[in-house]
Amino acid sequence: MTNTQFQQYKVWDLPTRVFHWANFITITSLIFVGIIMLFKKELGITSLEAKVSLKEIHVIIGYLFVLNFTWRIIWGFIGNKYARWKQLIPHRGFKDELRSYISSARNCEPPQYTGHNPMGRLAIIFIFLLMTTMMVTGLIRAGTDIYYPPFGSLAADYIAAPGTDPASIQPYVATGTDEEKVKNLKSFKGPFGTIHIYTSYVLMFMIVLHIFFVVRAEIVEGGSLITAMFTGKKLLTKNPVDLD
Ligand code: HEM
Repeated sequence: MTNTQFQQYKVWDLPTRVFHWANFITITSLIFVGIIMLFKKELGITSLEAKVSLKEIHVIIGYLFVLNFTWRIIWGFIGNKYARWKQLIPHRGFKDELRSYISSARNCEPPQYTGHNPMGRLAIIFIFLLMTTMMVTGLIRAGTDIYYPPFGSLAADYIAAPGTDPASIQPYVATGTDEEKVKNLKSFKGPFGTIHIYTSYVLMFMIVLHIFFVVRAEIVEGGSLITAMFTGKKLLTKNPVDLD
């Protein structure tokens, strides 16, 4: 019988872990409400009030998602070594490192990392880019669809008919609006809605892939990846290749 020696490394700091789980909860909730919005007819949701309320709930959760993500972007400049953008953004020699990681992973002898392995880096950067797209298109839709901040007052000011107080304009109600400008706003917001929905499909796919590969890496490579996102500590059996 062999005795495996574990070495413990403190990796993810508290703000990074809080971000990760808050991000998981807000995105799961946004997807849940988003799917209800997509299938509202099938679910028998037909009244205008209910449709607008669903959008309002989605947008309020969206603000929490945006705040949490914005905080993570800032933390990437001031957090510990493992939270920094330098850990994620590919550096010089990254291609070779990626190639060698993939070939050793294929031979079931992957090296261990205290931070992210090269595939993990790429996946996280891609997921962050998708999240940025969701954030920008979501905020634009929130403004142009239901006149919520930060762009809602701009959109309401634009479509308000002369003499109408823009604050009195209600989503999907024509009263007090200029018909021509409502049409212009509709064609402006259309592409943002399309990007929002298709990016959400790619993000959903990436979330499934992320969970699959994290579980696989935990089984094949060890390192207690999943518990590390709760405790911040990785347990490694080999010498990590990314310690300087
Ligand atoms: C990862 C984050 C997000 C996901 C997965 C997501 C997902 C979705 C989905 C599936 C829909 C349904 C699309 C439809 O009914 O056509 C939707 C609609 C919408 N989302 Fe998001 N969303 C996210 C973030 C946000 C954010 C941050 C905001 C704004 C604060 C936002 C605002 C909206 C609005 C206003 C709609 C309704 C637009 C429409 O009816 O076309 N979303 N979202």
